[in-house]
Amino acid sequence: MFGHSRFRYRSLEEIEADVERLGLDIEFSRDTSVLAQPVCIGSRTAPNALAIHPMEGRDADPQGNPGELTFRRYMRYARGGAGLIWFEASAVWPEGRSSERQLLFAKGNRAEWEKLLTVTRKAAADEFGPRHRPICIVQLHDAGRYRKATGCMPAIVVRNLYLDPPAGIRSDHPVMTDSDIETLEEAMAEAAVMAWRVGFDGADIKSCHRYLVSDLLSAHTREGKYGGSFEGRARFLLNVVDRVREQVSEDFLVTTRLNLYDAIPYPYGWGVDRDDAAVPDLSEPLRLVGLLRERGVKIINTSSGTPYFNPHVTRPYDAPVRGISLPDEHPLEGVARAFGLVAEVQKVYPDLVVVGSAYSWLRQFLGNAAAANIRNGRVSIVGVGRTAFAYPDFARDLIGKGRLDSHKVCIACSLCSQLMRDGSSTRCVTRDREIYGPIYKVVSAR
Ligand SMILES: Cc1cc2nc3c(=O)[nH]c(=O)nc-3n(C[C@H](O)[C@H](O)[C@H](O)COP(=O)(O)O)c2cc1C
Repeated sequence: MFGHSRFRYRSLEEIEADVERLGLDIEFSRDTSVLAQPVCIGSRTAPNALAIHPMEGRDADPQGNPGELTFRRYMRYARGGAGLIWFEASAVWPEGRSSERQLLFAKGNRAEWEKLLTVTRKAAADEFGPRHRPICIVQLHDAGRYRKATGCMPAIVVRNLYLDPPAGIRSDHPVMTDSDIETLEEAMAEAAVMAWRVGFDGADIKSCHRYLVSDLLSAHTREGKYGGSFEGRARFLLNVVDRVREQVSEDFLVTTRLNLYDAIPYPYGWGVDRDDAAVPDLSEPLRLVGLLRERGVKIINTSSGTPYFNPHVTRPYDAPVRGISLPDEHPLEGVARAFGLVAEVQKVYPDLVVVGSAYSWLRQFLGNAAAANIRNGRVSIVGVGRTAFAYPDFARDLIGKGRLDSHKVCIACSLCSQLMRDGSSTRCVTRDREIYGPIYKVVSAR
């Protein structure tokens, strides 16, 4: 580990020199034209190789319908030109929400989702013409341990020495029964089928960041059919994929955003070396991806870590949220780790569309790293999270001008995460100051 450092690079040469000094495997390409190339995903095509990652805005109305700010966000994403818009975590039932303002993806909300999708597609077509049709996938979610809707208890599928205490979960907290999990299996599958009926291109059975499904993957100490062996821990996800596949058309994309590596010690983590959680072990994640691929999964979105325990693993930053200390590692080490994990999956499954994460810390140079990774066969599509909040039209600039504006990029300040932690709607406090500056002031004065 090289110690934490803030971003301070003014040129590609400077960042390249630091990558070399640290001995990391990150390449940058001066030619970003590869980002403009369409990407085939099954029988569908993303118009370019750039994606907006799912980013919770927490701006739903009290019924869980998209609110005014939700519509604003997605229209801005669509006008920004990304070829893939991965809609944010949306709970499949009210108790599964991580906040009162999280979107709900359930029968009662169907009409509003149809409206949001139509408006998003129209904004993209108005801006770039009818041939530009971004792939739209919705992320289906149950917050599990991080459920926070009023009157709902956190739901755990397994006790976790590292995650339970900070989440306020006591040792006598009930563990979900197999029958509770079967009910969720049904709800997830129903929501995915609804996504198909609404007109989405695909549905993501969210399996990352240690929310409920991600938690199941590491339920080594759980007894019964959803825990213990690899087959038990992967059962939920594979069952849901099977159930959905039986009910939707061949071209609908059933997918998952999958944690490749939790960085939580065994037996509480997934994708970790059993003796050293600092070392990834991708044997199980790769096996799972193989099983998903056999079931017709054409695209996988990847991530790692959890925002509640090791946020720097999920998203390298300059400044942490309140109460979290700076990690020992250099953010470039975090970026290199994320790139390496994804590259491993892409190498084993070259025909799978693999979406990579954790690019935003690279600021105006993220497109150069994205282009190098795509060209080197280390990823198929590059997604951005915080950059999408800060700079929703990043794709337009990367494709049109071959570069990003350093005055518009995400500065990895964590204020978007802070707003979320403080229970507010969120987006970029720094670059979308007109709306989120006043919200931040009110929330931080509480
Ligand atoms: C405020 C905030 C909200 C997020 N919401 C989601 C979400 O709904 N679903 C998800 O899978 N990841 C979510 N993430 C993680 C991002 O999608 C992304 O993986 C992460 O920020 C790293 O990518 P980046 O470096 O481009 O920001 C969120 C991150 C932040 C900061």
